[in-house]
Amino acid sequence: MKLGFIGCGVISVAHLEGLAHLKKLNKQTFELTAVCDLRLERAEAFASEVEKQLGKRPEVFTDYRVMLDQQGLDAVSILLDHDLHHLVAEDCFAAGVHVQMQKPLAISPSFGRKMSADAKKYGKILTLSEPSVLGASNVAMVRAVKEGLIGSVYMMIDYAAVTLERKFFAGTAWRHMKGRAGAGWINDHGVHRTHFFTEVNGPIKEVFAYTDIFEKQLSDGINTITPTGEDTSVTVFRFENGGLGHWMCSTAAHGEKMGGVWIYGSNGCLRPGQHAVMGDGQVIPMSELIERYAQNVVDDPFAHSYVELAEAITEQRRPISSAERGLEALSVVFAALESATTGQPVRVEEIIHGEKHVYEDTVLEEMNAGRP
Ligand SMILES: NC(=O)c1ccc[n+]([C@@H]2O[C@H](COP(=O)([O-])OP(=O)(O)OC[C@H]3O[C@@H](n4cnc5c(N)ncnc54)[C@H](O)[C@@H]3O)[C@@H](O)[C@H]2O)c1
Repeated sequence: MKLGFIGCGVISVAHLEGLAHLKKLNKQTFELTAVCDLRLERAEAFASEVEKQLGKRPEVFTDYRVMLDQQGLDAVSILLDHDLHHLVAEDCFAAGVHVQMQKPLAISPSFGRKMSADAKKYGKILTLSEPSVLGASNVAMVRAVKEGLIGSVYMMIDYAAVTLERKFFAGTAWRHMKGRAGAGWINDHGVHRTHFFTEVNGPIKEVFAYTDIFEKQLSDGINTITPTGEDTSVTVFRFENGGLGHWMCSTAAHGEKMGGVWIYGSNGCLRPGQHAVMGDGQVIPMSELIERYAQNVVDDPFAHSYVELAEAITEQRRPISSAERGLEALSVVFAALESATTGQPVRVEEIIHGEKHVYEDTVLEEMNAGRP
């Protein structure tokens, strides 16, 4: 099947490596025949890298609509800023092309609902590339919990604090503006975690959070911005099955960064990407967990995302990382943001179905005011 990339920025490199990984394994999924970026020099440089890694140079475009018209693509991966996800996805569906979207599914839940409805309307597949639930290591952890390795999950903890020293995350100013990124890092990074939490332990029922913007100016030395997205959030939540969670994201830490995820159950603890430690002290390394639970899954999460997209198209197989699960993850983030705005606990269902949207309205307001 013929694949196109729309956007050749930071994450496109990991996607190319995923496709190269599949090529090495001799797994047939897609041929990357076209790439597009508004910035011609970026698209050209990326096309050269594709040629180096996959052996064939893709056609280069600066207008994705022209690419859709001329290339007879089966699918595209959309690798763009969050405020463009729903707009570009609809154009792709209308052109008869299946879509893999990057996390977060959309800038906010109402647009996530719209994208799923558009996919249905045009009869096209929409999958999400969410690396935190894809690849052998992540799939093994989820299956291990579901098969009872650590017993019932009592508590999930995630701390993520990075030290930007008042510069831009990943060199991108847009990530700090809620009109383009939906929120601050709690959305950009947070959906990785909320998607993982809910994949491991089922739906989250209720959320309470505090958020703040501590750093009033950020700069890369050329551009200076006044961020509108939260740089720090501290959240507590309860799963529908009774388990509790504590979750923190911050891009305002100075000096020392920190991070980690812990999943505590009635019989042991799982450390994603590392190992499981059982109540009797036995340590089970990740390699053994993969051997036990995910032998049939490719290692690289981005490679896995293309296996999922191909199987969804050719076999109508439901992907692990579906648009519906992406909407749920995004809605947990927006439940936290809604809670921090209103000072009340918020049920995730109320966000999924659009019953509460005080915070989301502020995103739409900034988005509708246009890009600076
Ligand atoms: N681990 C992950 O899964 C992961 C990591 C990073 C980014 N992402 C996601 O990938 C997406 C892109 O992030 P990024 O870090 O690569 O951003 P980026 O800003 O580095 O890249 C976006 C690219 O899109 C181009 N672009 C913008 N508008 C365009 C248009 N209309 N047509 C064609 N090209 C256009 C820009 O010129 C830029 O090169 C975001 O949704 C982000 O959340 C996922």
